Amino acid sequence: MNVLSSLNAFVHRSLSAGVRLAYDRDVAPTLTDADKDLSDPRVRVGATVRAKIAKSPVYQHWASLRRNIQEMNRQNARHVALRQIDDLTARAQRFSGNAETLTLDPATEVPRYLAEADNHLQPGGYHAEVKPGDVIAGATYDLATFVTSAGGFGPKGDSGGRGISKWLKARFPEFKPKRILDLGSAHGNNTLPLAAAFPEAEVVALDAGGPVLRYGHARARAMGFNNVRFIQRAAEDIDASLGTFDWIQSTMFWHETSTRAIDVVMKRVFAALNTGGVFINLEQPNFTGTTPVFDRFMRNWDAWYNNEPFWARLHEMNMVEALQLAGFMRDKCFEGGVNPDVEPGHYPPWAGSVSRHDHEHATPVAGKTGYSGESWYLFGAWR
Ligand SMILES: C[S@@+](CC[C@H](N)C(=O)[O-])C[C@H]1O[C@@H](n2cnc3c(N)ncnc32)[C@H](O)[C@@H]1O
Repeated sequence: MNVLSSLNAFVHRSLSAGVRLAYDRDVAPTLTDADKDLSDPRVRVGATVRAKIAKSPVYQHWASLRRNIQEMNRQNARHVALRQIDDLTARAQRFSGNAETLTLDPATEVPRYLAEADNHLQPGGYHAEVKPGDVIAGATYDLATFVTSAGGFGPKGDSGGRGISKWLKARFPEFKPKRILDLGSAHGNNTLPLAAAFPEAEVVALDAGGPVLRYGHARARAMGFNNVRFIQRAAEDIDASLGTFDWIQSTMFWHETSTRAIDVVMKRVFAALNTGGVFINLEQPNFTGTTPVFDRFMRNWDAWYNNEPFWARLHEMNMVEALQLAGFMRDKCFEGGVNPDVEPGHYPPWAGSVSRHDHEHATPVAGKTGYSGESWYLFGAWR
């Protein structure tokens, strides 16, 4: 896993610079004005650039490595988890007797967009079980995400939740949520920082997948968290039985859903949010009228080769418009960036950048296009 993690960082930070050079030299000069028209975020550059760059050896090298790393990563992480299936299940069961903090509903209908594709090549997604009561999906996701992010999400994979909590506390020090809902929490890595930031609050981690919640619940309890309830339910079915919330949030949730889900779930969120409450989401930045063609191609790559079918469509959407369609007032909506907050002290100083050579730091990809994306895209609204 360490080899894959380092290789992943090398492919992203160093080899992708070669893809940029191939694009600049061989593809950009052949694009028509229509191909380069950025005025419409929906401009379908992906297909044109994909077809043209496919002949480039450096692109082929980069793309096949990226795909292979992801396949090896997800399979290998699953293998590590499967080897320990009975032990992990028994450990999780020690915590799952407490119905107060874990509510599973095997009748939960897993949405089609989760059930019909192994998102980001994770076999069985977040919901499939190998044996009843297992935690394989959660353990696999936790382990494999470390590799996918090349350690960039921090040792506990919680830099999104830490970043968002820090942002909220710094900007709105008076805001003291009593009830918090995390949509699509999976294993809860990014939920726990909210619970740590607001220990008096009751936090609900909601997901359609049972095994990720079982894993997340045991992990949270083992880490000493008692103020997080893990509930299995599709976000489309949020209703009054969950109560209302002061803060509803999501991290990396919407890109695995659908346009219909965005419509339905955001309306449910609006209804479940208390007046004066806030809805905050962290995602990849969507395309704007200034997002360069190369970035659009690179950022949509996962839709085609990493089993993220909704990813490209989401990039074309205007999330502030989506919020307004759900009922939020335009002047209460916001969008911006927030930096991931990686817990300090766990990595040696050089590890923040696996590219240890000057020429790798100075890549055009990292410097000019923003493709490496230092910031999370944050969007949301006050109710
Ligand atoms: C990419 S994962 C993100 C997990 C977590 N928030 C994180 O930051 O690591 C997306 C999660 O959303 C869940 N999910 C997607 N659509 C859902 C829905 N409609 N209802 C409930 N959970 C959903 C998936 O099961 C998955 O666990």
